[in-house]
Amino acid sequence: RSCAILLSGGGSNMVQLVKSMAEAGHPARPVLVMSNDPGAGGLARAQAMGVATDAVDHRPFGKDRAAFEAELTARLEAAGADLICLAGFMRVLTEGFVRHWEGRMLNIHPSLLPKYRGLHTHARALDAGDAEAGCTVHEVTPALDDGPILGQARVPILSGDTPESLAARVLVREHELYPACLRRFAAGERHPIYLN
Ligand code: GRF
Repeated sequence: RSCAILLSGGGSNMVQLVKSMAEAGHPARPVLVMSNDPGAGGLARAQAMGVATDAVDHRPFGKDRAAFEAELTARLEAAGADLICLAGFMRVLTEGFVRHWEGRMLNIHPSLLPKYRGLHTHARALDAGDAEAGCTVHEVTPALDDGPILGQARVPILSGDTPESLAARVLVREHELYPACLRRFAAGERHPIYLN
């Protein structure tokens, strides 16, 4: 499979996905790393790893999400992508884009879905007094953070945790979970995995 990765920030998940696709026998290869922010740190990291990059700044499109996403799709298809990994991509995608890529697009979300869809997941888990938190890889469907779950990893919430300390602990697990889920999905496996 030809995998494109969409990001908005530093791209730590992208780095792990690209590294994992270099492993022997991996059924996917990275063909593009693209951002909605031309200044995203992940673009330089992808270039350093020898992966083609691109950027479509969403700001000139204003409220015309469909036009922005049409440009994304054009670039993705020009690169030959047939599988998309959203990895710290911070733009909400419209139903049109999701329907076009449905069944071929994954996302990682920093909570144990179905809990805490949306933003500020760690602060919400802390405020709720949860004993644990974690991350979820799921197929992207039109409803936000709602598609079939492909994998989850859990971490304990420790006394004194802040959203930042919890996010750092979860991020370590994201870097284990997402590559494992990508490899299985690209190989056609659909049963979810639950890391200890
Ligand atoms: C991570 O917390 C991930 O869960 C969320 O974006 C954050 C940053 O990811 N989707 P990255 O370091 O840019 O991969």
